Amino acid sequence: MTAPLRPNNLEAFWMPFTANRQFKQAPRLLVGAKGMYYTDADGREILDGTAGLWCVNAGHAREKIVEAVSSQVAELDYAPAFQMGHPKAFELASRLANMMPSPLDHVFFTNSGSESVDTALKIALAYHRARGKGTKFRLLGRERGYHGVGFGGISVGGISGNRKTFGTLLTGVDHIRHTHDLARNAFSRGEPEYGAEFADDLEKVIALHDASNIAALIVEPVAGSTGVLIPPKGYLKRLREICDKHDILLIFDEVITGFGRLGTPFAVDHFDVIPDMVCTAKGITSGVIPMGAVFASKKIYDAFMDAPENTIELFHGYTYSAHPVACAAALATLDVYAEEGLLTRAAELASYWEDALHGMKGLPHVIDIRNLGLVGAIELEPIAGAPTKRAFSAFLKAFERNLMIRTTGDIIALSPPLIIEKAEIDRIFETLAGVLRDID
Ligand SMILES: Cc1ncc(COP(=O)(O)O)c(C=O)c1O
Repeated sequence: MTAPLRPNNLEAFWMPFTANRQFKQAPRLLVGAKGMYYTDADGREILDGTAGLWCVNAGHAREKIVEAVSSQVAELDYAPAFQMGHPKAFELASRLANMMPSPLDHVFFTNSGSESVDTALKIALAYHRARGKGTKFRLLGRERGYHGVGFGGISVGGISGNRKTFGTLLTGVDHIRHTHDLARNAFSRGEPEYGAEFADDLEKVIALHDASNIAALIVEPVAGSTGVLIPPKGYLKRLREICDKHDILLIFDEVITGFGRLGTPFAVDHFDVIPDMVCTAKGITSGVIPMGAVFASKKIYDAFMDAPENTIELFHGYTYSAHPVACAAALATLDVYAEEGLLTRAAELASYWEDALHGMKGLPHVIDIRNLGLVGAIELEPIAGAPTKRAFSAFLKAFERNLMIRTTGDIIALSPPLIIEKAEIDRIFETLAGVLRDID
């Protein structure tokens, strides 16, 4: 029997990453958004402390983007992505490639972060094969990594809950250790001092499998979804050196860090480490239309271009790769970012943000605070025997008090739109301080 068709029936929608039954008993429904604020079904204005889901970097309902999307639908609603093209796809790819340091000068379009990750992993495998190194088939990820929910992404991902119920995943995958070190680095401001040597774990994994069998390592420059783990000073450079030494591709998953989150256009710029591929999504359209993009270096693209000219070089793509409406949204978003200096605004606000965030030290339950650019995390002591419960009560109470935060495990994660003002930063932390005092 199908569910009865009633407008307010919450049953049919199987909600993603949500406690469905709990939610449906006390739903939190958002019905509008503008600038830094959501409006909920009761008409309350809710301060967006998370840029939606780390994506609404330009703030909500920006006129220029709204206008670009609506006129694009009327002008060219859809164009086939295979063996056909439309001008905005090429314009967008060129603009994006210009934003990335050389040699990351080719762009493959997807529709989400998960698709960007699967695309990059597939390109890595096909790249080695194209250059006669087909034994390099193993993929490496990192413990606590989040790379979306495709089979590729959960295989290289390192969050147990996202993997454990889904069978054998991809074969030939291994993981290096994570970089979280509370004992030495708790309450670090910015990049932690200790732990560059965690990168040497990669040498250990290479020694086990042999470099001749390893295609690529994928990491988030700053691990986001697991609860904001900032890489120790020097760590990412060391990963780059080890990958170079062993002819292993390095892939940065910048689905969260891309488009200004750290105060530079990309984490690549912030850390001055250039990987072979970069996965992006989210902020590329400021969350308005689903889209993702994988940046690949010239050497990777060129390796595919030796085959006869009439052959398809890469058997991969999506019906909606470079969808015209997504391209229009992305072009307008890049305009807004450029006109308002949003891709570097996090750098201007970073020290104010850092001071306000670290002002939470000493409040009940707080065992660590981490930050970089306009990202922050407050790690709470879990309730004995009930992990995640404490942070989730903080989430509920903050929402009651008109603030949207995100929690993962017992960590509160914050990543507001890049248009945030200092007064709104103050409001986030005043509200949170009250919440932390009031929860058990
Ligand atoms: C680093 C990273 N990679 C991939 C993804 C997956 O993106 P999507 O949910 O758009 O598939 C996310 C989503 O949060 C992410 O943070």
